Amino acid sequence: MSKPVILDCDPGHDDAVAIMLSGLHPAIDLLGITVSSGNQTLDKTTKNALNLVQYLSLDVPVYKGVKEPLVAPLRIADDIHGESGLDGVTFERLTHSLQDKHAVDFIIDTLRNHEEPVTLAITGPMTNVALALKMAPDIASNIEEVVFMGGAHGYGNVTPAAEFNILVDPEAAQIVLNQPFKKTMVGLDVTRQALVTPEVVQTMDALKTQASKLFVDLMKVYNENQQQIFGLVGGPMHDPITIAYLIDPSILTTDYAHCSIDLSHGESYGRTNCDLFNYQHKEKNTYVAHKINVTAFWQLVRKVLAGAQ
Ligand code: RIB
Ligand code: CA
Repeated sequence: MSKPVILDCDPGHDDAVAIMLSGLHPAIDLLGITVSSGNQTLDKTTKNALNLVQYLSLDVPVYKGVKEPLVAPLRIADDIHGESGLDGVTFERLTHSLQDKHAVDFIIDTLRNHEEPVTLAITGPMTNVALALKMAPDIASNIEEVVFMGGAHGYGNVTPAAEFNILVDPEAAQIVLNQPFKKTMVGLDVTRQALVTPEVVQTMDALKTQASKLFVDLMKVYNENQQQIFGLVGGPMHDPITIAYLIDPSILTTDYAHCSIDLSHGESYGRTNCDLFNYQHKEKNTYVAHKINVTAFWQLVRKVLAGAQ
């Protein structure tokens, strides 16, 4: 039985791999892709999502979301993802059309009408989901789980304190964390364990499929930028880990803890404060991932890119 999922993302090189996994693996019933700004402006991330769905021949509707964060001014990650947001890949002429419905309305309507609880995978800033929850609080009752790539209980990747997705829209992240449904946080603490090393690129390149070619072309640029900025041997595979977890929850080890977002406007603005030792004895609200089975993760990615499941 496949799991009904909405993927909310800001493609983005690693979002693209999350779209591959969620769109191609039979364990996931991808109901729709909703797009946020983040890695690039909304027009560019939306075009990227459409191009990816078209390239992968996915029968998945794409919805354009909210242009800017709730409060903070938009910041983008063009240093990592480039001018297009998906530098390194040239797509054929785009014919796959965008849905007329707004992403927030799609999230609300789907959660109100789907016959079983829906899982939300968020791999960008949480603006769309936060607004949906504010406009229609009743939808929380039909959310199975929110799994989000964001935050860190360790150091950030934009400031020492904050990770990009959360820092772009901290207020939206706090709205989601305040909700009663299950939340699983896939932060930098685990994503930095799964690097796209040259050996990984070589393994995927040997597959010679449409999906593996896209992966290799994307990762060449992604890795160069990650190496230049962070000195990493390969880019962290941030976003796809959320989908791999939905396909095989055993891939992650998590701790249940109280998490909150620093909304003060000091140096730690946008930090995810995860009380892993329960110092404050506050109500726990988030499953915080701290370990990933890296071998199992890459085996899963390889199977999907190879066209086998
Ligand atoms: O900090 C990494 C996250 O920010 C990833 O989701 C990446 O795609 C960017 O959105
Ligand atoms: Ca992303």
